[in-house]
Amino acid sequence: MDTQGIENTARALVEGDRGILALDESSSTCNKRFAGLGIPQTEGTRRDWRELIVTTPGLGEYISGVILHDETIRQQKKNGTPFVKAILDAGIIPVIKVDTGAQKLAGHPGEKITEGLDGLRRRLQEYSQMGARFAKWRAVITIGNGLPSRACIEANAQALARYAALCQEAGMVPMVEPEVLMEGEHDLERCSKVTEDVLRTVFHQLHIQGVTLEGMILKPNMVLPGLGCPRQATADETAEATVRCLLRAVPAAVPGIAFLSGGQSSELASARLNAMNVRFKTRLPWALSFSFARAIQQPAMEIWHGQGAKVKAAQQALHHRARCNWLARRGEYTSAMEGAGS
Ligand code: 13P
Repeated sequence: MDTQGIENTARALVEGDRGILALDESSSTCNKRFAGLGIPQTEGTRRDWRELIVTTPGLGEYISGVILHDETIRQQKKNGTPFVKAILDAGIIPVIKVDTGAQKLAGHPGEKITEGLDGLRRRLQEYSQMGARFAKWRAVITIGNGLPSRACIEANAQALARYAALCQEAGMVPMVEPEVLMEGEHDLERCSKVTEDVLRTVFHQLHIQGVTLEGMILKPNMVLPGLGCPRQATADETAEATVRCLLRAVPAAVPGIAFLSGGQSSELASARLNAMNVRFKTRLPWALSFSFARAIQQPAMEIWHGQGAKVKAAQQALHHRARCNWLARRGEYTSAMEGAGS
């Protein structure tokens, strides 16, 4: 195993102040987002949307990696250029989502286990030949009455660790994503406890499977109250709870932490990441970055609406969000930047 190579690659993804754009929704999730805006749900519109994103002028200034779905890594721009080439030409690293989705966890109503380990060694070889140097696997954990169960946390942590070990064997850097969902009425404290428990379990399993921590990226949720909690947290409270939880559970050997957005509004996601970097950046062992899907894509998708005439305006909105999050990594984002469109 080329440990040094993997470590260099992992660092490259979080170096500087750039972050990651997640563009790896499954076809059905992408269709759901299109349906919400009345955009036709076809392979063609999904391709058009993804071409709009990867050809956004200047995207590489703020984005170091783009996560692709199996459908997208095989697609091309209208002029025949493979998406992977367009991404590399923009100075961005292609990342591939390799899990095959979350299914019901047997015997545990309301909980899910992420699948995709079968045949993964072979698929990683294929993706590596296509130019992917990173992979992503997402596990989902639900907070609820009596949830999450030990069974759900342990099974997902073990799958994440087995995936991560296979990635490193193939010379690829694993992005390890255990997502504690925002749905629910739980408070900040409960999210913090569950997230800490999940992260501790994941790192225990990563250790058992022999994963090199210097050659991985963690993609966690921010610590937030549930969407249905009557008392929402300020950006500073979120920053404090999230960093406290991460300091307890994430080893210093991990080079970077890139948050998912999880359904937060674009502006809140930027403000919360900014608050963490303003208050703690100089005191942390790992970089605090972003790997957002909805919080970067949504405003642009609302402008685009499937219309060719809106491509430019949508790309400007996407570029704006990428820049806002780049600034948030530097602790230089303010809400006054919103609405300016640049
Ligand atoms: P969101 O930022 O929309 O949560 O998506 C991130 C992601 O990659 C989900 O797997």
